[in-house]
Amino acid sequence: MHLHVSIWSLVLPLSAASHSQRHISHDVAIPTVKIAINASTRFQVIDGFGVSEAFQRSAQVHGKAGLSESNQRKVLDYLFSNEVGAGLTSLRNGIGSSTSYIRDFMKSIEPTDPGGPNATAKYEWDGDDGSQVWLTKEALRYGVKWVYADAWSAPAYMKTNGNDSNGGSICGVQETFCASGDWRQAYANYLVQYIRFYKEKEGIAITHLGFLNEPDLNQTYASMQSSGFQAGDFLKVLAPTLKASGFEDVQIVCCEATGWNDGEDILAELQSIPGAEDSLAVYSAHGYSSNPALPFKTTISKTWQTEWADLDGSWRTSWDYLGKEGEGMAWANKIQQALTLSNVSGFLYWIGAETTTTNSALIRLANDTVSVSSRLWAFAQFSRFVKPGAVRVGVESGIGYVRVSAFENVNGGVVVNIINNGHVDVRTDVVISGWDGTVGNVTSWLTNNANNLTVGVEFRAIGGSREPGFNGLVPARSMVSYIV
Ligand SMILES: *[C@@H]1O[C@H](CO)[C@@H](O)[C@H](O)[C@H]1NC(C)=O
Ligand SMILES: *[C@@H]1O[C@H](CO)[C@@H](O)[C@H](O)[C@H]1NC(C)=O
Ligand SMILES: *[C@@H]1O[C@H](CO)[C@@H](O)[C@H](O)[C@H]1NC(C)=O
Ligand SMILES: *[C@@H]1O[C@H](CO)[C@@H](O)[C@H](O)[C@H]1NC(C)=O
Ligand SMILES: *[C@@H]1O[C@H](CO)[C@@H](O)[C@H](O)[C@H]1NC(C)=O
Ligand SMILES: *[C@@H]1O[C@H](CO)[C@@H](O)[C@H](O)[C@H]1NC(C)=O
Ligand SMILES: *[C@@H]1O[C@H](CO)[C@@H](O)[C@H](O)[C@H]1NC(C)=O
Ligand SMILES: *[C@@H]1O[C@H](CO)[C@@H](O)[C@H](O)[C@H]1NC(C)=O
Repeated sequence: MHLHVSIWSLVLPLSAASHSQRHISHDVAIPTVKIAINASTRFQVIDGFGVSEAFQRSAQVHGKAGLSESNQRKVLDYLFSNEVGAGLTSLRNGIGSSTSYIRDFMKSIEPTDPGGPNATAKYEWDGDDGSQVWLTKEALRYGVKWVYADAWSAPAYMKTNGNDSNGGSICGVQETFCASGDWRQAYANYLVQYIRFYKEKEGIAITHLGFLNEPDLNQTYASMQSSGFQAGDFLKVLAPTLKASGFEDVQIVCCEATGWNDGEDILAELQSIPGAEDSLAVYSAHGYSSNPALPFKTTISKTWQTEWADLDGSWRTSWDYLGKEGEGMAWANKIQQALTLSNVSGFLYWIGAETTTTNSALIRLANDTVSVSSRLWAFAQFSRFVKPGAVRVGVESGIGYVRVSAFENVNGGVVVNIINNGHVDVRTDVVISGWDGTVGNVTSWLTNNANNLTVGVEFRAIGGSREPGFNGLVPARSMVSYIV
C-alpha cells in the first residue's frame, strides 16, 4: 500500500520526502481521491498567463532602480523561462497618455494637441516607450506569444476633462460634449499608430489592442471612464479603422472593468450597441472588486482576467502561512477557479516585477536584490504546462477540497492540476477517459511550503482493462501538476 508513495523519496529532496513519509511512518490513514478526467468534454481554449510591466516597471526591470544585468536576466528568467521560471506567455503593455515620463508616467506618442480632431496628427516615437520595447523584445525571445497593448486613457486633449488623469471620457461618445469636437476617429488613429510604430520601428507585432482600463473608476493617475454604451460608440469607429489599417489581425480587447460584476454590467450595456460585441476577440475584466466566479454571458470567443493582485497586504513570499490574500496557495486557487468557474482563456497578474512593499508584483526588486514570491510558483504550476491552444477538459474530483483542473495541450499531452486544500495528504487515483493517448510514467511538479515546482515521477497505474490513468500523492496544503 505504500508502493506508489515511495517514489517521492527517490526523486525529491530530503525535506519533501520526509514530509510525505511522515504520515506513513505514523500510520495515519491517507484518503484516496478518485479523479475522473474526460478529455471528450471540452471547454475553453487557453491563450495563457501573464503580467504587465506598465507604468515604467519595465524600466525598473531594466535597471532603473539599481538592478544589475545579471539580476535583470534572473527576473526575465523567472517570468518567462519555461525551464527555470513560470514560462508566461502574455505581456500587457501600457499605451501612454501623459506628456512626459515624470514619476512613473507613460508618455504619449502624441503629447501635444495637434489643433483639433481633424488636424494632422503629430506623432513621435522615442524607441523606448518606458523600456517596454526592450522588455517586449526580451519576452518574445523567451517565447511570449501575446503582446497586449492597452491604453489607460486617451491623451488629455481628446477627453471631456482635458486631463489624462481623473476620469473623464473620450470626446464624441454618447453623453459627452466637447467644444473641440468628436475625437473618436483621432483616438482610433492614435491607437493604430502605436501598433504601427511597434511594427515598423521595432519589428514587434502587437497581437491585442485595448483602449480602456478600469472604466468604472476615476483615479488620480491615467484613467478614463466609460459605460458599455460609450465603449460601443468608440468600437464603431475603432473596429473599421483597425480593419482598414492593415492590422486586421490585431484582436480587440475590451473592457477591463475593475471586477467581474462591473464587467457583467458593462457587457450588458455594450451588447445593446449593434456590432460592438462582435467586434471584440476578447472580453476582459479584472479580479479586484469581485472575483471571477461565473462565465460572462457573451458570444465573444475568449474571456481574459487581465489584472489582479493583492494590493493591500504587505510583501509576502510564503505559500501557506496564515492563509493570507498574498500567499501562493491562495493564488493557485484563484487562478484555478477563474479557469474552471469563469471559463477564462487568459489570466494575468498585475505586475511581474517591481519595487514594491505590497503584493502588487510576483517578484520584488529592491536596489540589486530580487525576491520571488510563491505567487510566481502558483502561476508556474499552470503556465509552465498549460500552453496556448490547450483546451480545458472535464474533471470530477471525489473530494471537495481537492480541487482539480485538466487540460489537453496541442501536442495531445494532458495536464492535471491538483490543489489539496486539506490538512492531510491525499492519494490520487486518476482515470482519463475520452482520450486517445497512452499513459507512460507521469511527471509530477510539487509546490508547497518546502517545494517550488519540484519534479518527481509517478508510476503508471493499473493497466489491463482499466482506462488509462495513474496514481499519485498530493501532500496536504500543496499543489501538484501531473504531466501525462
Ligand atoms: C465524456 O464526455 C463526453 C462528451 O461530453 C460524453 O459523451 C461521455 O459520456 C463522457 N464519458 C464519461 C465516461 O463520462
Ligand atoms: C467557454 O469558452 C468557450 C470558448 O473558449 C465557449 O465556446 C464556451 O461556450 C464557454 N462556456 C461557457 C460556459 O461560457
Ligand atoms: C491633471 O490632473 C493632475 C492631477 O490632478 C494635475 O496635477 C495636472 O495639473 C492636471 N493637468 C492639466 C493639464 O490640467
Ligand atoms: C473625478 O475625480 C476628480 C477629482 O480627482 C473630480 O474632480 C472629478 O469631478 C471626478 N469625475 C467624475 C466624473 O466624478
Ligand atoms: C471634422 O470633420 C468632420 C467630417 O468632415 C466634420 O463633421 C466635423 O465637424 C469636423 N470637426 C471639427 C472640429 O472641425
Ligand atoms: C537601496 O539602497 C539605498 C542606499 O544604500 C538604501 O537607502 C535603500 O534603503 C535601499 N532600498 C531598498 C528598498 O532596500
Ligand atoms: C520557494 O520560494 C519561496 C518564495 O520565494 C521561498 O521563500 C522558499 O525559500 C523557496 N523554497 C525552496 C525550497 O526553494
Ligand atoms: C517508469 O518508472 C519505473 C520506476 O522508476 C521504471 O522502472 C520504469 O522503467 C519506467 N517506465 C518507463 C516507460 O519509463
